[in-house]
Amino acid sequence: MGSLGFEVTPLEKPFKGSAIDFGAEISGIDVENLTDATFDIIRAALYKHSVVVLKNQEGLSSRAQYELTRRFDPAANLYSHGKTIDKRSVLHKDLTTVPNQPQVQIIGHGKVDEYEGLQDLQLTHPHHRTFHKHPVPLEEDRDVTHFYRWHIDSAMYELDPPRVTSLFAARVPKGRRQTLRYDDGSDESLDVPLGTTAFISGYRMFDLLSDEDKAWVLESYVEYAAHPYIWMSQCKARSNGLGLFSDGLELDASQLPPVDEAKIRRYPMVWKNPETGRLALMMYPIPARRIINMKTGVVVDDLKTVRETIYRLQRPAISPQYVYPHDWVEGDLVLFHNHGVLHSIVGAFTEGEVRLFRQCNMAASQPPLGPNDSISI
Ligand SMILES: [Fe+2]
Repeated sequence: MGSLGFEVTPLEKPFKGSAIDFGAEISGIDVENLTDATFDIIRAALYKHSVVVLKNQEGLSSRAQYELTRRFDPAANLYSHGKTIDKRSVLHKDLTTVPNQPQVQIIGHGKVDEYEGLQDLQLTHPHHRTFHKHPVPLEEDRDVTHFYRWHIDSAMYELDPPRVTSLFAARVPKGRRQTLRYDDGSDESLDVPLGTTAFISGYRMFDLLSDEDKAWVLESYVEYAAHPYIWMSQCKARSNGLGLFSDGLELDASQLPPVDEAKIRRYPMVWKNPETGRLALMMYPIPARRIINMKTGVVVDDLKTVRETIYRLQRPAISPQYVYPHDWVEGDLVLFHNHGVLHSIVGAFTEGEVRLFRQCNMAASQPPLGPNDSISI
């Protein structure tokens, strides 16, 4: 029991054989009336455990969700993808902004008559069929699924990745589970709750590297593409959701909005936890464009090589034993450290299964911390 009577409990292992070492639940938090002392407990838990689950938040207002999320970075206030999302972006169809609270988005699936002052919402849960090169055959679609897209919440152009994202479950369809198949040449699979959000740890991802790879990633940066979600909008993803195939489908400069070189993002491959000092391998495979080794000066410009290098480094850490698939219950508010974990949407709903969530995050006031406390180049 903490000093204020709150209990921070590590999450139970989601299945026998799970090796997850992150995630915690805190009971008894009143998000609507949060004191500084209570926030300090949540903040400490987030930097220690990476994913924090606050149960029983039914009725949580968008305002309170926003205020809690912003406390992690008070100088931030702009939604992570900016004021508007270009219609050509792959994200455009997934997000509906809460009126008067532009940092909060409504996401989910199905028809909702009224929510947050909006009428007749028709929400669509991203289906991997729209994004993967080799989707699950239609006849298996009800029972078998894929990780949709492993990612860091971020625009990766102009704006820096939010420190924290919050996800609130207002309505959750009940009862079904699905088999998540990797379909990547391994025979790995995972039994998951319908519509789970899956998390993996960047710290584990770093720890799983060989000593040689650790030394190399510590001195390397990733440069991200300009207007990445438009640039890659025609590309198809691997079946395990970890990056794209290189079929030459990226848009060229003439098909993109004007590019401002100063807005291109370059981040170290390794991000340091500002509280614990732990090192996380944090690369976002889909918008990655180049790799730069700061020690040798070598720049890897060939897109296929860039992607295959990142894939080789990341793939071990998405194996089932390292994945935490959250089993959503209505009223759950989940906060995650977006500079320490990657996450993926999962699953496919059938007609009549309504899911209603709110997501909140803000572009960070500073880039992520590098391994030597540098912040960017
Ligand atoms: Fe996300």
